This record gives sequence, structure tokens and C-alpha cells, in this order.
Amino acid sequence: MLEQERIKELRAALHTHNYNYYVLNQPTISDQEFDMMMHELIDLEARHPELYDPNSPTQRVGSDLANEFETVPHSRPMLSLANTYNREEVSDFYQRVKNGLQGEPFQVCCELKFDGLSISLHYEEGRLVRALTRGDGVQGDDVTQNVRTIRSIPLQLPEGMDYPAEFEIRGEVLMPWSSFDRLNKEREEEGEQLFANPRNAASGTLKSKNSSTVARRGLDAYLYYLLGDGIPGDGHYENLQAARRWGFQVSENMRLTSTLDEIYEYIDYWDTHRSELPVATDGIVLKVNSLAQQRSLGLTAKSPRWAIAYKFQAEQAETTLRQIVYQVGRTGAITPVANMDPVQLAGTTVRRATLHNADFMLSLDLHSGDRVLVEKGGEIIPKIVGKASPLGKTGEGAAFITRCPVCLTPLVRYEGEAAHYCPNENGCPPLILGRIEHFISRKAMNINSLGPETVDEYFRQGLIRDAADLYELTEAQLMKPTAGDQKGVRKILQSIEDSKQVPFERVLFAIGIRFVGEIAAKTLARSYGSMEAVASASLESLLQINGIGMVIAQSVINYFAEPRNQQFVERLRRYGLQMTLSEEQLSAQSDRLAGQSIVISGVFQHHSRDEYKTLIEQHGGRNSGSISQKTSFVLAGENMGPAKLEKASKLGVRIVSEDEFLQMIAQN
Ligand code: IVH
Repeated sequence: MLEQERIKELRAALHTHNYNYYVLNQPTISDQEFDMMMHELIDLEARHPELYDPNSPTQRVGSDLANEFETVPHSRPMLSLANTYNREEVSDFYQRVKNGLQGEPFQVCCELKFDGLSISLHYEEGRLVRALTRGDGVQGDDVTQNVRTIRSIPLQLPEGMDYPAEFEIRGEVLMPWSSFDRLNKEREEEGEQLFANPRNAASGTLKSKNSSTVARRGLDAYLYYLLGDGIPGDGHYENLQAARRWGFQVSENMRLTSTLDEIYEYIDYWDTHRSELPVATDGIVLKVNSLAQQRSLGLTAKSPRWAIAYKFQAEQAETTLRQIVYQVGRTGAITPVANMDPVQLAGTTVRRATLHNADFMLSLDLHSGDRVLVEKGGEIIPKIVGKASPLGKTGEGAAFITRCPVCLTPLVRYEGEAAHYCPNENGCPPLILGRIEHFISRKAMNINSLGPETVDEYFRQGLIRDAADLYELTEAQLMKPTAGDQKGVRKILQSIEDSKQVPFERVLFAIGIRFVGEIAAKTLARSYGSMEAVASASLESLLQINGIGMVIAQSVINYFAEPRNQQFVERLRRYGLQMTLSEEQLSAQSDRLAGQSIVISGVFQHHSRDEYKTLIEQHGGRNSGSISQKTSFVLAGENMGPAKLEKASKLGVRIVSEDEFLQMIAQN
């Protein structure tokens, strides 16, 4: 057999075995046989690079190349559902549908509401061509590369089935409890921050820069909505059964119902049995089954009239309150936390629960020894929602603290904020650590070989008291806290050294002036050109700048009025950090693109996407995410998304190549 035919045969066979294993849970060959076929295919593909196919089963392992997510408009907006929380609201929905359909008989499809993130998959001729996140509902991120690694999503449907030439199918990407528990256990061992729930984990994973990370983390997907011309029939339920035959994972737990009582039965059943499911669910979705009836019921601005979500109540437990303690966050925010007698809740033992802030805590009028109700919603930290019995003690409940529990500074409360804060930014350890963490973060100085744990450790050892101290660290000093890992130490010192090249605008962001975010820092840097000029700017002059309001302006003034901050900035200057816009940046500025709105699309040869964004701004243009009538032109690299290409040509928007663009902005 020709090698190229063998490749085709292996790909088809592996797609089928993949489906049998991940969707049907009924493998027909052993893991070993599967691996052998996979290896044969990998070898053959290596010999035939001309037969590369992004949808080959070999591509499920993902790649370490950094992804950039292009924003792509949805062909049909992705709506969300209206929520209900009790039987009356479900009955109201049922009645509205009945009235809307003027007495016509109808069925309602009951489904589980999966707690992940929604995804839209496009298939052409049975091949997965595009996967988009929901985004804002109108446009989403193109996450096709990452989605290809999800084993239960078919890359190529078997030939000769009754699926339309083009269709879209929507569903939920989620992280099963088993993958979630494994991932969090690993993260705990590595000292990394835990994911609060499977939804956050799934969403963080799907947006990973490396698809190989996605492949490793074991995501799964359930599909629940088929769209497009030429889909099999009028029944939503029937269409999804067809989709299951084509290879999609469709929940086995959908039910067609014809009465309100049957709907209640479904709800009651799953309210108790959902804990047995391998994935997180947060409710039930009810959908009018007939597509014709769906169309006749139509939509409101935000959600369809033919569907509704019923949300489960969060699980609660009762226990005894022992003590209230206070945590100081990295921003200085104070959180009251209840210590309680251990109690079982949603599968874990709970001893601590948040009381959010002073208002919430005081409203509960808590006393040590009170019986309290604890609830676990979507967050990792449970909260106290009230007292268990009204007979508990009343009056003179626990008072909120007035001083920081760490440094004893009197707390402040800023207007319009619920939290109390410790204002001792330069003296209270959690706040100092928070400032250093901000300083080294990716969008600031990007000292990426230092993590929060290492910073904590250096602080505890007295090696650093502020971010400027980082620039005085020596190899000898760091050998101890890092247990003599010389390679690691050199890497850390190198990335500290490298940060001296980080452009001025990011230095201005990194020093942590309250309210000065990335954008404001950029604006200030471009307007004044140097740290000195920003530091000596008057309130009037600051307020002249487009995008700088009173809050930011006053905060800049306050920051530079503080001698301690002046000294800090002065030290950074001495260590060699960038305190002015570079010559290049200054001379690069022009107004060649003034008033133009430019969309960037595709992959580029000479600069990264971010660099092109900066170039556009430097020349007075505006970067915009989606093509519209107002778009001046599209700066297009290779592999520009087909949807964008089509839209541009439909609106007659000019496509400009990378080289053309660079000529446009070149001097002379
Ligand atoms: S149908 C127009 N069905 O819940 C109908 N959604 O706010 C669109 N979800 O964004 C959604 N399970 O992410 C539908 N069986 C299910 C669902 C489901 C979970 C999510 C979905 C959607 C949100 C609704």
C-alpha cells in the first residue's frame, strides 16, 4: 500500500477509536494497539510533511508554540439564558411559552446545565475548521488549536453520514472533577495558586498559550445546540441524537417532556443526583423542542424566549462559629474569616468561611458559639449566609477591627468601597509583598523567573524590603534560600538584569502608583517622555491630557510628593532602569496614521502582534478588534482568518500587507 494511503487509513481508524474510547466509553482495541497505530502514523507523517493536516489524530497532543487568539465575529450571536431559581418561575416560563404558541401543543427538552464555558465549533465537509469562545457574544477568541486537543471533540466526522456540508454546533467545554482534583493537587505541590472551581480551571486552560498544556489537563466537552441550514429535522432533541451518531458527545441525560409535572420531576431528580455526575453542573436548561416553535417565540435583547435556565440552590450545612480572624490581602484589603467546627459540605470538610467585609459581617450579628449556615457556591471558599436558628444570642455581636492585624495601623475605608484597607503601603508586609509582586509581573517588569513564593522567601530572609532591592541581590546571597540551585539563581539574576531594558512606560506602571494602570502609564509616558517630567508635572498639566482624570492626576501628585517614593524611583534610576522614552520611541512617533482605525489579523514575519499595535498607536492610529464600515484598513499577515477576509471584502475594506504597512509608516 502506498504510504499516503496508509496515512489516510490510519487517520480514519484512529478517529473512530478515539470516538469509541472518549465519547462512547467502549473501546474496541487495547490501549497498546492504539499506541502502535499512533506511532506508525507519527512516523509516516514525519516522512511526509506535505501531507500535514491540523486535524490529524497526531495533533491531539498540542504544541509548545505560543498561541495568539484572534478575535473573530460569530456567524450568529451567542446568547445567554435567563435564569430562574424556583418552581414558580419555571411555571411562569411554561405559561409564557403556552401563551406565545397560542394553544399549539409543544414539548420541552430538559437538559443539564453544564458548568464550564461555552464553545462554538464550525464544521465544513465534516472537518473541524474553527472553534470560538463566547467572548462578548458577538465576537469570540479563535481557540481552534487548543480545542483540537480535547479528545471528545471530533476533528473529522466519518464519511457518508447525513450531516450538512456546513454547520455549527455549540456546547460546553468543561473540566471533569477527576482532572480538576488532579490539577489542583499538582498545583498545590508546586506552590501554585489553586483553581477555585472546574469552570475557572476549564476557562484558564482553554486560553492557555500552549496547546500542549491543554492536551495534558484533560478537558472534556458536551454539545447541546446544533445550528445551520440543512440540519436534519425540526426537533432539537432529535438533531442532537443525530449529532451523537456523527461523533459528538451529547449528554445521555436529556429528556423530552410534555407537561410541567414531568419538568419538575426532572428537576427534582437531578437536584439530588447531580453529585454523582463526573462533571460540575449548576442547573437545568429547558428548551422548547421544535425549531419552528423556537423561531415563532423569538428572542429578547439578551436571551431566547424559548429557553430558560433553572439554577440549583447552592449546598448548605450547619455548624458552630468559634472565632473571627482577619486576613490582610496584597492590596491591603481586610477580609473577616470565620473559624468554625468542621462540617461536611459538598464533598469536603469545611472549617473556615468568609464573611466578606464589615457590613456583611455586622449584618449577621455574630457571637462565638452561634449556630451558622455555611454555603458553597461556585467559589473555593465557602461563605456564612446566616444564623441557623433565630434563637441564638442577639445584640452586641462581634465588632469589626479598627487596626490592621499585622501592623496595627488604623484601617481606612475609601469612599464607595466595601472593604476596609490597611493604608500602610510601605510598612505592612502583605502590602509590601503585593507591591513587589506587581512590580515583577508580566505586564510590568516581567521578571518571570521570580514567583510569589520566592519573593515571600527573600522577604522573610530579609534579602529584600522593596522592589528596588532586587537590583542589589547577588549570587552568593541567593544560594541559601534556593537551596544552592546555581542554575536557578543565575536565571533569576539574569531576568532581573534583563528587566533594565523594559521600556519606560512599563517602569512607570511597575512602580505602582495607585489608579495608574497599564494604559494610563502609557499615556503619561508618551505625554511627558520621562520620569522626571511626570514627577514634576502639575495637577493642571496632568488634567490637560486626554484619558487622565482627577483621580489619576491627584494620585500621581500624591505619589511623587512622598519622599520615600522619590527615593525609591531614584534608586531604580541608579540601577539603570529606563526612565525616558527611548530615542527610537521618541523619533518613531508621527501622525501618519492619525484618525485611522486599523484591524490586525493573521501571523506576521517582522514584528509580533503587540509590536504592531504599538506601532499603530505611535503613529496616531487606533487598533480595533473587529472589521466594520469604519475600518480604514486591515493589516494582514499570513493565515488571516477566513471570516475576517470575507467581511473585509464584503465591506470593501482595504487589505494591507506587512511590508506595505512598514512602508506606510517609514520615515520619508
Ligand atoms: S443552551 C440560546 N444548553 O449556560 C441557548 N446552554 O446562560 C444557548 N450551558 O452560555 C445555550 N449547559 O454556556 C445551553 N445544556 C445547555 C447548557 C448551556 C450549560 C451554559 C452555556 C450558556 C449558559 C446560559
